[in-house]
Amino acid sequence: PGVTAVPGRRILLAAPRGYCAGVDRAVDAVEKALEHYGAPIYVRKEIVHNKYVVETLTERGAIFVDETDEVPEGARVVFSAHGVSPAVHAAAASRNLATIDATCPLVTKVHKEAVRFAGDDMDILLIGHDGHEEVEGTQGEAPDHIQVVNSPDEVDQVVVRDPSRVVWLSQTTLSVDETMETVRRLRERFPALQDPPSDDICYATQNRQVAVKRMAPECDVVIVVGSSNSSNSVRLVEVALEAGARASYRVDRADEMDLAWFDGATTVGLTSGASVPEILVRDVVTRLGELGFGEVEEVRTATEDITFSLPKNLRADLKAAG
Ligand code: F3S
Repeated sequence: PGVTAVPGRRILLAAPRGYCAGVDRAVDAVEKALEHYGAPIYVRKEIVHNKYVVETLTERGAIFVDETDEVPEGARVVFSAHGVSPAVHAAAASRNLATIDATCPLVTKVHKEAVRFAGDDMDILLIGHDGHEEVEGTQGEAPDHIQVVNSPDEVDQVVVRDPSRVVWLSQTTLSVDETMETVRRLRERFPALQDPPSDDICYATQNRQVAVKRMAPECDVVIVVGSSNSSNSVRLVEVALEAGARASYRVDRADEMDLAWFDGATTVGLTSGASVPEILVRDVVTRLGELGFGEVEEVRTATEDITFSLPKNLRADLKAAG
């Protein structure tokens, strides 16, 4: 009501944005588990790093816990998309928990790389953010062989046993450019540094950054929808600023936007992290529309068609039930 587009005020909508295949699968796993086994279903950590998703699943009967010891003996628990260390699997088994492992297959891939290189007794430099659940899970595969490198600035402090037997791996949701800078500096110090067998930064992270880079130079403001603990969402703000956006802000929801951000702006870029439902982006488009940003133009740099099937044991139970 009473909404008038202001000539020249437009929204550039990045594509791809929002849900990746790993998030889609993890959220679907909790929903299907609730339907099939009934509430409550316990979930260790946030299934994906998005407030809205966690709130919505909580309303439907999911109970989010920090650790498996908060889950009653014998109950059913889902492991989040970020993955868990072998110690968490063991703890769940010791309490007879029924587990559904919603770890993204692309995170599992990095775990397997870590296990293999640790088996070869190499030093593994895991580029990533200390304390992030994914890093804790990967590091737990081979704590004696893995050290975390948080940023290019930390490279100088890295100590390895044998500089000729060093490999780097990474968290899946980092900034591609910053990671390459870390690798460049690591290689200066350790010329024999081995690369991972394939990209650890996942396709979804990379695609969302490429799309933001494309649109950012044209934007006065880039809005990234995503939660503060969502690594890939936080990276999108950094990438937008580096690529030339005059300003960039992350919001969980449309009503967190400060209208002063748009004073004098004509082009607003909009994207969302890999854990963000599209409805939250729609809300931002609506809110911006009320400010006169009437024209919406998509900036697409890739098309994604990757999907992952549900965790095996859940799939089997669903199938057996017809
Ligand atoms: Fe997986 Fe990448 Fe999404 S690692 S959960 S596809 S952000």
